[in-house]
Amino acid sequence: MEKLWAGRFHKALDSDVNDFNASIAFDSRMYEADIRGSIAHAAMLADCGILTPADAQQITAGLRGILEDLQTGKLEIDPTAEDIHTFVEAELTARIGEVGKRLHTARSRNDQVAVDLRLYLRDEIGAVDGLVRGLIEAIAAKAEENAETVVPGYTHMQRAQPIVFGHHLMAYAMMLLRDLDRLADCRRRMNVSPLGSCALAGTTYPTDRAQTTALLGFDRPCENSLDGVSDRDFAVELAAALSILMMHLSRFSEEIILWCSWEFKFIELDDAYSTGSSIMPQKKNPDIAELVRGKTGRVYGDLTTLLTMLKGLPLAYNKDMQEDKEAIFDALDTVKLCLTVFTPMLATMRVNRDAMRKAAAGGFTGATDCADYLVRKGLPFRTAYQIVGELVAHCIETGQTLESLPLEEYRRLSPAFDADVYDAIDLDVCAKKRISFGGTSPDSVREQVRAARDWLATH
Ligand code: ARG
Repeated sequence: MEKLWAGRFHKALDSDVNDFNASIAFDSRMYEADIRGSIAHAAMLADCGILTPADAQQITAGLRGILEDLQTGKLEIDPTAEDIHTFVEAELTARIGEVGKRLHTARSRNDQVAVDLRLYLRDEIGAVDGLVRGLIEAIAAKAEENAETVVPGYTHMQRAQPIVFGHHLMAYAMMLLRDLDRLADCRRRMNVSPLGSCALAGTTYPTDRAQTTALLGFDRPCENSLDGVSDRDFAVELAAALSILMMHLSRFSEEIILWCSWEFKFIELDDAYSTGSSIMPQKKNPDIAELVRGKTGRVYGDLTTLLTMLKGLPLAYNKDMQEDKEAIFDALDTVKLCLTVFTPMLATMRVNRDAMRKAAAGGFTGATDCADYLVRKGLPFRTAYQIVGELVAHCIETGQTLESLPLEEYRRLSPAFDADVYDAIDLDVCAKKRISFGGTSPDSVREQVRAARDWLATH
């Protein structure tokens, strides 16, 4: 395909340089955004008297035809074109002749690519948003089913206090709700139109940037044309929001991996979401969770690519910025892929309530409640803490648990103990009693589920 700038040059571009320079291999996915932007631009040019209505009409019809043919597969993207903008313009001119060459009036590829990327990413944020919502709903459903399933809560990976499994799950729902909020915030700042910034300085044509802004559904035009063509903050912000989202998925994955180990056996993943080993017949591996954990690094890498690419760039457009696309597209593709498999994996996992309860019963998780019991009997907390510490040491030495320890042995350490201590350290009671706002009681978990669903319905 002949270069746009052929007039200024005496020689054709070296073919390796041509490949090196081209972005069509990865920017063609923005074809719809590119054509939408051009249709809005043509309408504005006509309304401002820069194009005749007849020319604009021909251009618009040509662009619509190209869009349709690309969507139906009738037209294939020419891999030798430099980029998607060049391809669409050349195809338009091939279809409607000379008039196609009028489209690029009062515009540059610099504002064109900036507008395309914003339009494209805006839609992609919508897709990620939908997938995250699906995951939150799956978590909420599992949490509701497990609002009374007792499991140890951990600190330092040591059993700490009994909680209900639904509470543990809802912690991830809260993280994901923040991710949705971050994505919405990112979309809001992204939704500003650079179209009309032209190459860098604006234009002498009497354009109407407000019109293209409205036609393309942007909130407002950017205020500074240099900023308009050189700003990629929106891509960085999106990569950052996606990195945080992946960090959450990765922490969740890590726990799922632990929970399906023989050491825990808290959950079992469905066969459709697990893999086997080529040599060890007994194996059932949580590959999905491991890959999600592994792919997190990739998305962090994409964020680093963008930040590093931009840090030394003078104003305004520099070709370095073409590197934005592969990074942000990879981050999006990765996140969408991960969510697509993670949600059904979670929705189909089976919860082993017995194993959870056994773990909670075996690890002295009722010790805090045992100390609180003594406090209710009038002892200072520090004293109570000391006594229960000695009780635990005694249990460990004699192979007992707080639940199995006879009352006489309790009373040997403090006469304040009575038979009702067994109720106080009962796992269900311990969890049920934590009724403080945001605590682990089953009612609190149900309240969290309700609040999460409410947020989804209203945002
Ligand atoms: N393919 C280019 C990019 O992605 C489009 C903008 C080209 N502009 C230019 N002045 N060479 O950044």
